Amino acid sequence: MLQETITKDQPARSWTDYVVPQCWESFTEDDHEVWDLLFARQVELLGTRVVSPFLDGIDLLKLSHPGVPDVEGLNAILEPRTGWRTVAVPGLVPDDIFFAMLSERVFPVGNFIRTRDQLDYLEAPDCFHDMFGHIPMLAHHEYAEMARHIGELGTAAIAAGEGHRVARLYWHSVEFGLAKEHGELKILGAGLASSFGESHFSLESDEVERLPFSVERAVNVPYKHDAFQPRYLVSESLEGTVAEVLALKPGELLAL
Ligand SMILES: [Fe+2]
Repeated sequence: MLQETITKDQPARSWTDYVVPQCWESFTEDDHEVWDLLFARQVELLGTRVVSPFLDGIDLLKLSHPGVPDVEGLNAILEPRTGWRTVAVPGLVPDDIFFAMLSERVFPVGNFIRTRDQLDYLEAPDCFHDMFGHIPMLAHHEYAEMARHIGELGTAAIAAGEGHRVARLYWHSVEFGLAKEHGELKILGAGLASSFGESHFSLESDEVERLPFSVERAVNVPYKHDAFQPRYLVSESLEGTVAEVLALKPGELLAL
């Protein structure tokens, strides 16, 4: 999860200051049922409309196991595979903290889940968005490396006062990117993969623009954080986007 506001002039702090115990045992029966409901509904809705590494990740991480996943169980599979691990946080973390986490292969997941009467409305990303949307792709080696690199780019961009550049790059790829796979348009971003309303909308609506992804375009195209996107960037292939992002050096990002 990524917070919009970039905070400045704060005393030095570490991303570890934002980590809390997940307290998995505190999730209620109803919380687990909400996870199961969301999971079943979203898997059916997505079908094969999402890039195949996402579906592979769901299987690898055994996310179909009933109930809210516990971070230790996820990490036991994820960390030996790509070096990534999840940590629990109580809500949105500041951008500099978020990108510092990514640069160390750490992904923050909310320690809460939406309620049954808010299945489709979220004030802040919860553990369903974070774990279902983001974590499967972090089991994919090349994507996982791209996500780590975005963390490094983000840390450098924020230090240079240009955090909006990396926020856009992140948004148009990791959160709301689309990608072609064998010529077919698929969902790539976690914000789409975990959204009941926007997943199909992003692929099928006639009212949105779909533009070819490039790092330069991503950095220069604004996004909406409180509504469906008016435009989506489409990677010609996941591999191509990973290679393009990995080739980007912090100084180059600032010059785009
Ligand atoms: Fe997210």
